[in-house]
Amino acid sequence: MTSITLWRNARIATMDPSCPWGWIERGALMTRGAQLHWVGTEGHWPKDLLVSAEHDLQGALVTPGLIDAHTHLVYAGDRAAEFEQRLQGASYEDIAKAGGGIRSTVQATRAASPEALFSAAAQRARVLMAEGVTTLEIKSGYGLSAEHEGRCLAVARQLGRELPITVVTTSLGAHALPQEFTGRADDYIDAVCQWLPEQHAHGWVDAVDAFCDTIGFTPAQTRRVFETAKALGLPVKLHAEQLSNQEGAALAAAYGALSCDHLEYLSDSGIAAMRQAGTVAMLLPGAYYFLRDTHMPPVDALRRSGVPMAVATDHNPGSSPMLSLLLMLHMACTLFRLTPEEAWRGVTLHAARALGLKDRGLLQAGLRADFAVWDAEHPREMAYRFGHNPCRFTVWGGVMRTQST
Ligand code: NIG
Ligand code: FE
Repeated sequence: MTSITLWRNARIATMDPSCPWGWIERGALMTRGAQLHWVGTEGHWPKDLLVSAEHDLQGALVTPGLIDAHTHLVYAGDRAAEFEQRLQGASYEDIAKAGGGIRSTVQATRAASPEALFSAAAQRARVLMAEGVTTLEIKSGYGLSAEHEGRCLAVARQLGRELPITVVTTSLGAHALPQEFTGRADDYIDAVCQWLPEQHAHGWVDAVDAFCDTIGFTPAQTRRVFETAKALGLPVKLHAEQLSNQEGAALAAAYGALSCDHLEYLSDSGIAAMRQAGTVAMLLPGAYYFLRDTHMPPVDALRRSGVPMAVATDHNPGSSPMLSLLLMLHMACTLFRLTPEEAWRGVTLHAARALGLKDRGLLQAGLRADFAVWDAEHPREMAYRFGHNPCRFTVWGGVMRTQST
């Protein structure tokens, strides 16, 4: 029989949409194996069950485990020299057009062994986990060849097998044009579309992404990638309207995209299309901050339209070298003017939706027992402070995770 554990004496932000924060002032949870069996008021748990372990949380705060739903975690090298160049006046686009930027990370990534890629990515994942992250999306996109894209996806899958965290993988071959395809972007898209079935057959792909922008790919090229994904039955998402408006969001929404990400230049018609398709708006304040962008995503209009907003780190070496989802909570509030509750829903409920996961993102009986226990009175404190990690421990699939696991 699956054993039952009682976690009692907690303040719980379940994130259930039925009330603010899904708040339970004096709460308790029961887990049964990897699942939540019951969530409710202290003392009111079902009494007819044999409880095999009991934890008194002494008034600590419990929230759903955090979900970082947009990262580029697998890569080698860094771009600190490019950061310096930008401080001397070069723009992110100039550097990319001159063959630096993403291409320089591709060079370093191709030269690294799978072991080195795994160990660097595992180290990064552990930093995120220490702040309560229990589910992590990882994109490829720094290999840009059949061999190296496959290697990066396989490393991401390996992280999911070897660390106590759920890893969701996204194929992002259409991230940038590799050197060897210079002047032949359409041929490169042909190649990307050829790799996808094979990557899928290996079980490496949960979704397909592309970078639709002036320094990325055109809407027509993006559409070809989406057609291939659709034929394989894979969901799509898009790096859309980050540096310019290409009407990429409307294109992605037409394919029922899980999310459109960045969205600084999102238009009204893009918002309408996303709302109709039920596509999540993935806000990435780290990239906005690090590139010193001044064109804010249309948060008010998204809110008015009822488009769910998620928040993620976009961790990558070029535009967002941050490894703190708690810092993103703070930045979503200070830079994008989300309320602390919106920002929290963005890293839990709406982040789960952006990954197409219906079994997590809130604390409710029947869902996964993924939760974080905090030395805090209220989750708004984590949106307010930064540089402070009050995570006491995390439970992933019903199992308590410590720093060493
Ligand atoms: O999400 N926009 C494109 N891709 C990444 C940046 C990649 C890089 O600069 O290495 C992003 O911001
Ligand atoms: Fe990204």
